[in-house]
Amino acid sequence: MKRTAPKDKIIVALDVENLPAALKLVELLHDEVGAFKIGKQLFTASGPDAVRSIQGLGGRVFLDLKFHDIPTTVAKASVEAARLGAFMFNMHALGGFAMMQEAVKAVRALSDGKLQPLMIAVTVLTSMGPDDLKPLGITLPVDELVVRLALLAKEAGMNGVVASPREIRLIKKACGPDFLVVTPGIRPAGAEANDQKRAMTPGEAVQAGADFIVVGRPITHSPDPQAAARSIAGEIALVLA
Ligand code: C5P
Repeated sequence: MKRTAPKDKIIVALDVENLPAALKLVELLHDEVGAFKIGKQLFTASGPDAVRSIQGLGGRVFLDLKFHDIPTTVAKASVEAARLGAFMFNMHALGGFAMMQEAVKAVRALSDGKLQPLMIAVTVLTSMGPDDLKPLGITLPVDELVVRLALLAKEAGMNGVVASPREIRLIKKACGPDFLVVTPGIRPAGAEANDQKRAMTPGEAVQAGADFIVVGRPITHSPDPQAAARSIAGEIALVLA
């Protein structure tokens, strides 16, 4: 398997209000990290131009729009994400097997070999616990549900899942080492927790098997974002060595 450079495992969450603020961070960081995550806030404010401008500065984009709709609609949206040149994008596994499979087929059928993004499923939002799931009629323990949805995503041909740090080992055990796990909730030792409750350090997450870590505020709110990113890459390098 191709070895990834430690910095390529870092995806910076661009949770900012406008494109100029995002581009400032991309200019600073595009040589220090693997990709930038554009979520619903920045995409709703600035649209596909945000993706193109970031790519124009040399950044790869994880389009975090969490598609969830009927299979045809998600397949078509997925093709547009691929055409936009996203390096990674995602959808809710709760949209079902047919939705994920149709999206995978549509994207993999694109003739331009360069347009092959990593397709990632969201299993259970970490904001949801048993008390939120029960009123929806979902009574499986959360861990079991996460693994079930990860296996379904794998069977549908998806490349991996987004998961909280504490779910990494369970998913890797069930789905195998090549099924990708993308992990937010990362806090370097000594960093402010902000609203993350069960964070892991970058080293711990990579040790547990995370293929990519999503890091926002510890880098973007740092007085020196480049130094913060380099320090995280250094921590990952120690684990990979
Ligand atoms: O600033 P921070 O490092 O907490 O940012 C983490 C990013 O990952 C945010 O964009 C957040 O929405 C996202 N995320 C998360 N926890 C999840 C899923 C996504 O923190 N379970």
